[in-house]
Amino acid sequence: MTSLASTFVDRIRAVVGHPSEPIGLHVPEIGELEKKYIIECLDSTFVSSVGSFIPKLEERMQEITGARHAIAVSNGTVGLQVAMFLAGVEPGDEVVIPTLSFIATANAVSHAGAHVFFVDSEESTLGMSPVALRAALESFVRKGSSLVNPATGRRIAAIVPMHTLGHPVDIAAIVAVAKEFDVPVVEDAAESLGSFVGEQHTGTFGLTSMISFNGNKIVTTGGGGVILTNDEALGKRAKHITTTAKLAHKWEFEHDEIAWNYRMPNLNAALGMAQLDKYPRFLEQKRRLAGKYAEAFAGVEGLSFVVEPAGTTSNYWLCSVRLDEPSLALRDELMTAAHEAGLLVRPMWNLLHQQRMYSSASRGDVSVATDLHASLICLPSTPALAEAV
Ligand SMILES: Cc1ncc(COP(=O)(O)O)c(C=O)c1O
Repeated sequence: MTSLASTFVDRIRAVVGHPSEPIGLHVPEIGELEKKYIIECLDSTFVSSVGSFIPKLEERMQEITGARHAIAVSNGTVGLQVAMFLAGVEPGDEVVIPTLSFIATANAVSHAGAHVFFVDSEESTLGMSPVALRAALESFVRKGSSLVNPATGRRIAAIVPMHTLGHPVDIAAIVAVAKEFDVPVVEDAAESLGSFVGEQHTGTFGLTSMISFNGNKIVTTGGGGVILTNDEALGKRAKHITTTAKLAHKWEFEHDEIAWNYRMPNLNAALGMAQLDKYPRFLEQKRRLAGKYAEAFAGVEGLSFVVEPAGTTSNYWLCSVRLDEPSLALRDELMTAAHEAGLLVRPMWNLLHQQRMYSSASRGDVSVATDLHASLICLPSTPALAEAV
């Protein structure tokens, strides 16, 4: 083992201690409150798409994020698909996304019937680069009221930045570029519940957005998510088309368009409400854990702890370190050493333009994302680890 690999393991251990069991990347905390709310939900018999926990969860999400409308859905991927649909993405369109993202960002575009265009990330945020975005948009041509990729002939229908590992992307710059080219922004805020730019919550800058409640997120509903928007008409429409577009009536089953059954079940919302009650503590623990890692890795040559971008407050959903020199071989050596020590660290996702389904998709230069992929390692980030040592 090289000395950097043993230092890596040693510095993680300094934060998480020496438990006998392997330490996962992010484990949900499920306790008595979750059981209480779920039993309450079971006793009510409202276990499906109707029930009191769902609107409560939506209201709580509005309070936390400041968004005027929060619509609960069955997972983040379908939430992002609908968020794009609401923003006007149609089959055959093209949507600009970062190549450094989880597969769901691209899959949601595909499920909307559209095609992806990949752009690069920036070092300071790990998210979509506004400079790369501008370069891409400038390479497109205007046809009537649409911006069109001349290489594919497709309309550019949306821009989907993502807040990577919870760190806010430079959303103000991205929104400004998007506005100049008159293309709507849909934020993939799957990972960034509790992350702010200044005082404004991520997911409230674009026309629409999505936050995920998957089991590995800061707050979980088992599976689930919310669509956020400040636009009243879009908020109403989001609820309508994710609940089969049924017209309100005591007994008639009349539906006014082909829609989805994407409503979050009440059972999941019950779990989510218990988690949201604990969310202020989770957030505080995550930021304290990040502070501990930052201290532990300070002065380690060859590795740096990734800190929140200037002017933002990150939820540090996944704490991470970065190799000063990108190297897949060294990255994998460090990860192997950590796994042998029972520390289940993870690399970033494989770049989307290298996934077989998207390898022929259009893209700009992606060199920064390639370096980030070869240098980032995600550390165990369960909130309770803040109390480990
Ligand atoms: C960046 C990103 N986008 C989309 C998703 C999809 O969310 P879900 O798993 O709730 O479908 C996730 C996470 O799971 C994610 O990390």
